[in-house]
Amino acid sequence: MKEKLQQIQAEAVRRIQESDSLDKLNEARVAFLGKKGELTAVLKGMKDVAKEERPLVGQLVNETREAIESLLDQTKEKLEARLMEQKLREEVIDVTLPAKKAEIGHRHPNTIALEEVERIFIGMGYEVVEGPEVEYDLYNFEKLNIPANHPAKDEQDTFYINKDIVLRTQTSPVQARVMEQGKLPIRMIAPGRVFRSDEVDATHSPSFHQIEGLVVDKHITFADLKGTLEEFAKELFGPETKTKFRPHHFPFTEPSAEVDVTCFKCGGSGCRFCKGSGWIEILGCGMVHPHVLEMCGIDPEEYSGFAFGVGLERIALLKYEIDDMRLLYENDTRFLKQF
Ligand code: DAH
Repeated sequence: MKEKLQQIQAEAVRRIQESDSLDKLNEARVAFLGKKGELTAVLKGMKDVAKEERPLVGQLVNETREAIESLLDQTKEKLEARLMEQKLREEVIDVTLPAKKAEIGHRHPNTIALEEVERIFIGMGYEVVEGPEVEYDLYNFEKLNIPANHPAKDEQDTFYINKDIVLRTQTSPVQARVMEQGKLPIRMIAPGRVFRSDEVDATHSPSFHQIEGLVVDKHITFADLKGTLEEFAKELFGPETKTKFRPHHFPFTEPSAEVDVTCFKCGGSGCRFCKGSGWIEILGCGMVHPHVLEMCGIDPEEYSGFAFGVGLERIALLKYEIDDMRLLYENDTRFLKQF
């Protein structure tokens, strides 16, 4: 029996010493001390040992057990320490490495320009509203006095969803939508994306943005239109800015005008920026056509109004002296960072 126990102990020591992981060590523990382990088998065999010998054999078994247990414990500690060391080595942090910079973006130049325009008009008591980008031909053209076969439809060729639905070519349809709601008076601006079937170049894009403006009330005159847009130009480009109203034609306004502002680069004396003229065109405007009022359910005998449409990109390009519109859409952070 004694030899048997010595043999088990020697075998256990060998297995424990060979264990190079906690898993293997645990396997060794189970193999010798577990329910079906070798030492347990010896204990179970005690009933066959002669009564007088039992205390001695019991003591031997206990000694063997203690020896194995203590070696298991020591080895476990050693393996755990080694594991911890390895972990610490692998997870070492080099505090001298440069930190990763969190790239915090900022507003796009278009957005900055839009918020500036919104601020100015909100300050004058206007409401900011929105309309759909996918729009009925009815609102985009028909209700704005642009019937089928009107040449203005050619100039604003767009993407047709079907024969009645288009990607809107202008923000002007929002005028019709707001007037139709019948809540008067109206003082609103409507910014948003518009679409045209244009080739991309330095000043064109198939998708760009406009800001529409509309005022409808009793006794609104061209003087209100002029005063409002003059004030807008001064706020946006500086107090010295002068405006010039040139006669123009838009189907939904009568009379209509295009507005130029004095070049904020040269102050009006003429430079490369304004192509020597001293003036820069910024928007289209006019008095809402009586027929448009009528089509939208407003009595033109009682009410009158003015409207205007500004190209947002145009404002951003002018304000930040950017000479190619494509830069606004390329998302090159080296460019965008500058604003
Ligand atoms: N919708 C016109 C365009 O895209 C711009 C415009 C002109 C809007 C005159 C207006 C306006 O509201 O009165 O060319």
